Amino acid sequence: MTTAHAGIRDVILRTRFGALLALGALLAGCGEDGSRTGAGTSLPTFDDPNLATGRSVWMANCRNCHLTGVAGAPAIGDPAAWVPRFARGRDALQASALDGIGHAGAWRMPPRGGNPALSDTQVRQAVDYTIAAVEALGGTRVP
Ligand code: HEC
Repeated sequence: MTTAHAGIRDVILRTRFGALLALGALLAGCGEDGSRTGAGTSLPTFDDPNLATGRSVWMANCRNCHLTGVAGAPAIGDPAAWVPRFARGRDALQASALDGIGHAGAWRMPPRGGNPALSDTQVRQAVDYTIAAVEALGGTRVP
C-alpha cells in the first residue's frame, strides 16, 4: 500500500511539474534563440568557455522558470530578486541547483532543474552563468 501510495504521489508531483514546465515554455516563448526574450531581457554572452557552456545548459534547462520567474523563481533579469540569494555565496547557490529546493513535500525547484542527465559540472556552469548574467545586467555581485 505504501509503495502504491508513493507511486501516485510521484505521478501527481510529476504531472504538476510537467504543467509548470509547459507553462514556462509558453511564457518564455518556446523556440526563441534567447537573444530576445519574452521578458524583454537580452541575455548576455561570454567568451569564457565555462560561461558559454553554462549559457547553453541554462537555455535548455533553467530558462523555462528563470527567464520570466515562473512560480516564484527569481527571474534572471530581476537583479533585486537575487540580492538575498547572492549574499549566501556561490557554493550555496550551486548546492541549491544540484539538490533542488522543496517546500511542504513539493519541489519548488527540482534537483538539476529537473534533468537528472546533467552532470554536477553542467549544473555548476549553469549557476555560474546565472551569476555572471545577473552581474552583467547590473545587479548585485556574489561576495
Ligand atoms: C521548475 C522551475 C525551475 C527550473 C527548471 C529551475 N529552477 Fe532554479 N529556482 C526555481 C524556484 C521556484 C526557485 C526559488 C525557490 C525558493 O527559494 O523557494 C529557484 C531558485 C534558484 C536559485 C537560487 C537558489 C538559492 O539558494 O537561493 C538558483 C541558483 C537556481 N534556481 C538555479 C537554477 C539553475 C542553474 C537551473 C537549471 C539547471 C534552474 N535553477 C532550473 C525554479 C526553477
